[in-house]
Amino acid sequence: MRIDILTLFPELCEAVLKESIVGRSRERGLVEINSLNIRDHTTDKHRRVDDTPYGGGTGMILQAQPIYDCFMALCEDSGKRPHLIYMSPQGKVLTQERIKALAAMDNIALLCGHYEGVDERILEEIVDEEVSIGDYVLTGGELPALVLADSITRMLPGVLASDEAFEQESHYSSLLEYPQYTRPYDWHGAEVPEVLLSGHHANIVQWRREQSLKRTQERRPEMLKTAELDKKDKEFLSKQERKD
Ligand code: ADE
Repeated sequence: MRIDILTLFPELCEAVLKESIVGRSRERGLVEINSLNIRDHTTDKHRRVDDTPYGGGTGMILQAQPIYDCFMALCEDSGKRPHLIYMSPQGKVLTQERIKALAAMDNIALLCGHYEGVDERILEEIVDEEVSIGDYVLTGGELPALVLADSITRMLPGVLASDEAFEQESHYSSLLEYPQYTRPYDWHGAEVPEVLLSGHHANIVQWRREQSLKRTQERRPEMLKTAELDKKDKEFLSKQERKD
């Protein structure tokens, strides 16, 4: 999989992408991620990439030309036309399901806006989709693009220790995760739940499932509507409800 990030701040992106799991996955060739500088494609002699909005108003607008030329150079370089996503608070809010679908694509490009936005004609002409990472506004699209690149990378084969690692996590199975503990057994007077020391695998699995259900019911009850629940899960949840 190849992800190209079109940005005015490639160093900012690289600072994050070179570290930890994503950094190692790039080194191991499990994913190719490039940070492309939109400014390298300006035809302005002062290297300007933005201008004031027609009709007046505050802030500056990113011009269509450098973004378009940056994307065309990318298409030429990769020999393909990547699926272009504009990171924007006006986009559809990102979900684990959408991330999974994007991780199945071979080539995507992420366009990061800045200032007051980009010229609308770029959205009409080359952008395939707009994605938001949540209902709040950031100063630019870089952090959202990094969130997306990170969440896609961890879904790629070979990146995590096992498929189980992400299948058991929050949102993948539509339930929140159960609590986890490591040494020491007693920390600040709080002890690890006995069942985890029992060595009884079936009991541990059942306890974890119940903890996941309980947490989801308490913190994100709406998630239970779409979760896959068996008879035992439903019985446990209605027992919990009666307790409250
Ligand atoms: N750019 C600014 N805010 C954003 C958000 N919430 N999601 C995606 N891109 C953004």
